[in-house]
Amino acid sequence: MNNYNNLQIDVKDNIGLIIINRPKQLNALNKETIEELNKAFNALNDDKNIRVIIVTGSGTKAFVAGADIKEFMHFNAQQGQELAATGQELLFDLVENLDTPVIAAINGFALGGGLELALASHIRIASEQAKMGLPEVSLGVIPGYGGTQRLAQIIGKGRAMDLILSAEMIDATTALTYGLVTEVAPAENLMETAFKKAKKLMRNSPQAQALAIKAVNAAYPKAGFAIEKELFGQAFTTADFKEGTTAFVERRKPNFEGA
Ligand code: CAA
Repeated sequence: MNNYNNLQIDVKDNIGLIIINRPKQLNALNKETIEELNKAFNALNDDKNIRVIIVTGSGTKAFVAGADIKEFMHFNAQQGQELAATGQELLFDLVENLDTPVIAAINGFALGGGLELALASHIRIASEQAKMGLPEVSLGVIPGYGGTQRLAQIIGKGRAMDLILSAEMIDATTALTYGLVTEVAPAENLMETAFKKAKKLMRNSPQAQALAIKAVNAAYPKAGFAIEKELFGQAFTTADFKEGTTAFVERRKPNFEGA
């Protein structure tokens, strides 16, 4: 099960654990990691002995610090739109619609695509040290992995607009108040808390849980996701996108037009 370059997979007590393992890049989601996550989620979901999947990040610093900025910073509009479309299809829509419940154990920074992966998961539990946000507009781009849609669905439009437009991070206590996560645990107990939750879920009918996931998801409109992909690509044509991503790699503050 461990034929992955960027993931570690463990199976214990009928629970599948996916650890995203690119610690030097704070577990940022490059193309290969997204493809591997697609394979791993599908394989665990197809295994009827696996009752719950937990996804977390390696190390103590980051869950996932976003899409890999260095990979997409020179993309054009079409490549940007394709990045969002492929990622949404391979990973974020897949996770949201899996039959097997998915718990995101947020062990550190969950930013951009990282928070979007947690948002697509069915349940979110955070470590007290976690920091969450959608910082894309600070790079001259917008969330492209479903964040503009799912964040508003989960915490409401007002708080979602605030987080997206300010690009600010919130801590675990604020995330709990917002309903962005449903449990917070001390960092050293995060995985134990996630496994305990998984075991509680396992007392219930897997067939009914799969149907419940479908029914809950059916309540939410899909049209916004297509618009997000298109506008994500559009952002790649702007001078602000070039400036924002260049400033990130040069470790300086961006100088946006008109800012
Ligand atoms: N992509 C690529 N590399 C990343 C990364 C990312 N999203 N986040 C961090 N890294 C890399 C850094 O470049 C650095 O690499 P080097 O050592 O080679 O320079 C390494 O990981 C460690 O990061 P920092 O030195 O920056 O660590 P820090 O403690 O100073 O800061 C941080 C931590 C606040 C999380 C900071 O790394 C950060 O702001 N990261 C980017 C967060 C972000 O903007 N995410 C959104 C990405 S866009 C997106 O996700 C679009 C989408 O929706 C599809």
